[in-house]
Amino acid sequence: MSGKTFKAMVVEEAGEKNFVRTIKDRSTDELPEGELLIRVHYSSLNYKDALSASGNRGVTKNFPHTPGVDASGVVEESTDPGFSAGDEVIVHAYDLGCNTSGGFGEYIRVPAAWVIKIPANLSLRESMIYGTAGFTAAYSVLELERHGVTPDKGEILVTGATGGVGSVAVAILAKLGYDVVASTGKTDQEQFLLDLGAKEVISRDESRDESGRPMLKGRWAGVVDTVGGEILVTAIKATKPMGVVTCCGNVASADLPLNVYPFILRGIVLIGIDSQNCPMKRRIEAWDRLSREWKLDKLDSIGKEVTLDQLENEIALILEGKQVGRVLVNMSPND
Ligand SMILES: NC(=O)c1ccc[n+]([C@@H]2O[C@H](COP(=O)([O-])OP(=O)(O)OC[C@H]3O[C@@H](n4cnc5c(N)ncnc54)[C@H](OP(=O)(O)O)[C@@H]3O)[C@@H](O)[C@H]2O)c1
Repeated sequence: MSGKTFKAMVVEEAGEKNFVRTIKDRSTDELPEGELLIRVHYSSLNYKDALSASGNRGVTKNFPHTPGVDASGVVEESTDPGFSAGDEVIVHAYDLGCNTSGGFGEYIRVPAAWVIKIPANLSLRESMIYGTAGFTAAYSVLELERHGVTPDKGEILVTGATGGVGSVAVAILAKLGYDVVASTGKTDQEQFLLDLGAKEVISRDESRDESGRPMLKGRWAGVVDTVGGEILVTAIKATKPMGVVTCCGNVASADLPLNVYPFILRGIVLIGIDSQNCPMKRRIEAWDRLSREWKLDKLDSIGKEVTLDQLENEIALILEGKQVGRVLVNMSPND
């Protein structure tokens, strides 16, 4: 059987440490093995995609490669009894877009174990406004909740607040009635964060303590950190006794220069968020929440829509830390 031709972003090596991105025709015959062939309708841009698209071997070992850790679409072929042609599905994380051809192509072929049937109250488009970033925000909020951080416990700090994970976290927490303090490097985006529901916006500089003190006055009942480094360290030092801090990202730094005092004198809980290997049960729970009681009325204000051809500029912006909210990629604008 001959494969279908489809359009995809292809990242190729062009000399030492130089990578080029082009939109090319590919064939479904080139896709890896898997039980499900899926026509991708939407994808989204995450920081990790920008790393893969610029040749980062920590994310993608082998090139040529089609990035895109996120995809929503319709099953065209299935050899798995749990799925049929026509099912609307979401695929994100696992190896999609890392070393498996990803959502920046009009088709993906993946193992059935990576695939979630889209919840009833969510469209393919809405699911990718959330995407991996929104899922990661939801997973972080689930962890705060699981560790007893209820709205009455006090303020929640969200760092990297205008980013993909940060903006969705601000909006979910505000919707749930938490007092959210948003930390951002983009002083011109204060209104965007207040509109998402933040109670207060603080600058990145205010979020970084350089006094060297082992602990600071406790302010936060919980923290959703998306940046790492000194900002995460400062947040942990300024968390109230028995407070909970989630940590998912390293855009500022992967280092954590800290001592044990916040943990042994205040009982702070630090939770690592790994959405790539999140167990399927928890994954389904997070998507279910995102589709029902956590569903954001302001989803469209968080997402800007582009086509595959327009992705180039967006990749540059996210790598520079200048992106605001989520970038939704419409993979079937002519359908
Ligand atoms: N562990 C997981 O499962 C998982 C899943 C998804 C994402 N992540 C990670 O989470 C992080 C955020 O992802 P994302 O998709 O939300 O990325 P993003 O949209 O680029 O957002 C990151 C935000 O961090 C802030 N920032 C950028 N550079 C910074 C710097 N040098 N110092 C301090 N803050 C900086 C900016 O927000 P402000 O200007 O508002 O400060 C930026 O918008 C990334 O590291 C990503 O790899 C991890």
